[in-house]
Order: sequence, then structure tokens, then C-alpha cells
Amino acid sequence: MIFTVGGVKGGSGKTTIATNLVIYLSKMGSDVLLVDADDQETATDFTAWREETKDGNIGYTAVKLTGESVRSQVLKLQEKYDHIVIDTGGRDTNSQRAALYVTDIYLLPFNPRSFDVWTVPKVEKLLSEILPAKPSPLAVYAFLNRADPRGADNDDAAELLGQTERLTFIDCPIGGRKAFSHAAAKGLSVLEMNPIDEKAVSEINGLFQNILKLHEVS
Ligand SMILES: Nc1ncnc2c1ncn2[C@@H]1O[C@H](COP(=O)(O)OP(=O)(O)OP(=O)(O)O)[C@@H](O)[C@H]1O
Ligand SMILES: [Mg+2]
Repeated sequence: MIFTVGGVKGGSGKTTIATNLVIYLSKMGSDVLLVDADDQETATDFTAWREETKDGNIGYTAVKLTGESVRSQVLKLQEKYDHIVIDTGGRDTNSQRAALYVTDIYLLPFNPRSFDVWTVPKVEKLLSEILPAKPSPLAVYAFLNRADPRGADNDDAAELLGQTERLTFIDCPIGGRKAFSHAAAKGLSVLEMNPIDEKAVSEINGLFQNILKLHEVS
């Protein structure tokens, strides 16, 4: 499977989700490639920290690609890996568009905030432009990241995401939890933290299990 974590909003949690997904898949025993298609290179920095923390045994392969080569190189690399996870920047870039042409599963984290959900029409427009020219199907999943412990903001955002034309809303919110930034600072997934944050782990497992089940990936 080729996954792209994207959207057109900065700071929604794309790199957090992409890096946790790569490590989740690698822990499942898969041979995984992480593609950093964001010029900010946060996923690449994450991998560098991981190399230090894990003494080189990071569990996946990482490359940096930009623009049209995201499409052409991923097409060449896909036979060599079980899964590929592409992390994109928070804008409608050539890199994100190139990634989508080769993607099977598009993951869209949304913070339950107005500025974030207001970007939904832009994502729908991007998809309406990509899909007619895309040779293979694209599953599009939106979910809440940095959700509040409770409250109307989560419900309002969930309702809006549930009413979109091209996005499938997955009701597996990832809460706003310090464990995510603490783990990232060491190049780790929340699955690897000690002490473990049980809620963060169960949310990440829940989200990925639900999505993978829909595609019969095990
Ligand atoms: N569920 C969460 N709980 C707490 N903090 C989070 C969560 N998800 C992300 N963060 C934090 O929010 C910040 C932005 O996250 P991240 O870098 O993953 O977003 P991004 O969408 O990749 O940003 P960019 O658009 O700049 O690439 C980081 O400091 C990250 O640690
Ligand atoms: Mg990022």
C-alpha cells in the first residue's frame, strides 16, 4: 500500500501521523519506506534523531523526494517495499499532487478548530483535480488529531468532516497528548515510549487498525 499523509493545513499533525504509521507498519513486520516530500524536512530530522536513539536500527528506510520525482521514484520503489508512507507539507504543492497520483490511501488529520476544517473545500478541490487523471483508486480518510478530551469542538468538526463529498470520516480521534511530542523529540513512536502513554497507544492502534482493516492489510 502507498499511503500519503497530507492536506493543505500546516501543523495538523501530518508528520506525527506519518512517522507513527511507518513505525506501526514496521512493528507489524513489514518492510517500509518513509518518503519525506516536505521541503521542511521534518520527517528527515525525525529519522536522524531516531538513528541516534536507536543506534542505527530504525526499522524502516527513509528518502527525501520533491516535485515530480515523488511520483516517478515512488513508482520505481514500490516493488521493493511492502508499504510506502509519504509525508507531505501543509500546502497544495507539486510534491503532494505527485504523491497523490501514486497513492492508495490518503490520510487527512484535522485539528478540531475552525481554521483547520475551513480547509476542507480546498482539499475537495485538490481531489477533484487529481482524481480524473489518476489511474488507480484513492481511499480518502479524514480524522481528528489533537482532539479535546471532550466538548463541542470535536463534535462540530466531526459533523463537518462527515458531510463532505470525497472524504470518508473515520471516528477514531487522536487526542492532544504530550506523549506525541515527547516521543517525536527522540525519534520514537508513542508505541515505543517508556513509560508508555496507554491512551495515546490505544488511539494510534485504533486509528491504524481501522484503516488497515478496510484494506485487508494485516
Ligand atoms: N495528537 C497530538 N497531541 C499533541 N501534540 C501533537 C499531536 N499531533 C501533533 N502534535 C504536535 O503538533 C506539532 C505539529 O505536528 P506535526 O509536525 O506532526 O504537524 P505537520 O502537519 O506535519 O506540520 P507541517 O505542516 O509543518 O508539516 C508538533 O509539535 C507535534 O508534536
Ligand atoms: Mg510535517
